[in-house]
Formats: sequence, C-alpha cells, structure tokens
Amino acid sequence: IERTLILVKPDGVRRGLTGEILRRVEAKGYTLAAVELQHATPDQLATHYAEHEGKPFYAPLVEFMLSGPTLAVIAEGQGVIAGFRSLAGATDPTAAAPGTIRGDMARDWGLKVQQNLVHGSDSPESAEREIAIWFPGR
Ligand code: GTP
Ligand code: MG
Repeated sequence: IERTLILVKPDGVRRGLTGEILRRVEAKGYTLAAVELQHATPDQLATHYAEHEGKPFYAPLVEFMLSGPTLAVIAEGQGVIAGFRSLAGATDPTAAAPGTIRGDMARDWGLKVQQNLVHGSDSPESAEREIAIWFPGR
C-alpha cells in the first residue's frame, strides 16, 4: 500500500490546526499509520531538506522548522502521495486554491520563508527516504 510522510509544520501546530488537517486527511479516506509530535533536530532537517541546501530560503526554512514542535505523520492509501499534495495545495499560500489546506488556512506572512502549514512527500522515493528520517525503522 502506498504511503507518504506528512508534516504539520510549527506554524500549524502553534495555530492549533493539527486536528483540522488530520480531519481532512481522514475525510479523504486515507489511513493514519503513525502520528508523533516531534521537535526536529538540525541534523534531521539537514537531511530532510538536503535538496534545498544553498538556496536563499534554506537557512530561514530550517530556522522556522526549529521554532517549535512539528507533527509527523505517516498516511497510507492508494494514491496518497499525489492525493495529499492535492489536499495541501500550491507551495505559495497566496496562490493555493481555496478548498486546499494552504489555500484555506495559510497566507503569506511576508517572511523569508513561506509558512505554509504542511509538508507532503513528492514521490515514492522521497516518501521512503523521509519516513526513514522521521520514523526510523518504519
Ligand atoms: P513541502 O511539502 O513543504 O516540501 O512543499 P513543496 O514540495 O510544495 O515545496 P518545496 O519542497 O519546493 O519547498 C520546501 C519548503 O521550502 C516549502 O514548503 C516552503 O516552506 C519553502 N520554500 C520553497 N520554495 C520557496 C521559495 O521560493 N521561497 C521561499 N521563501 N520559501 C520557499
Ligand atoms: Mg517538497
């Protein structure tokens, strides 16, 4: 069965949106296989965001992700990787369509990094790589 790594980023946890976000994932028919509140470490984030190293938003992104706890989730279901990204909406919250998590609940706060509430793996390879970072052994 296909699975993906979802993160409710520190802005989502701070704003009390974890329940609403998980509700949407479950309402879509996906199964929650693991849910854990974690305070990410610099090493964990360096691995998770390796593809973005060197980009201008990398340092602010890591700083933001260290600013508070993150809810790490493994969700399962047919097509869940693309399906969750569809639920999440576009990376830029201002561009994200209404009806999506980012479109409905996030906006551009004018900071150096987009505080866009959630992360979702973008391919089966990314999902397995990221699950190993957040849930070793799963
Ligand atoms: P994730 O599900 O969080 O990985 O989002 P994504 O796949 O839509 O975006 P991507 O992997 O390209 O970028 C990861 C995160 O970096 C985004 O969610 C944003 O928080 C931030 N980010 C990405 N691109 C930009 C950018 O061009 N400018 C700024 N300020 N932040 C960005
Ligand atoms: Mg991404």
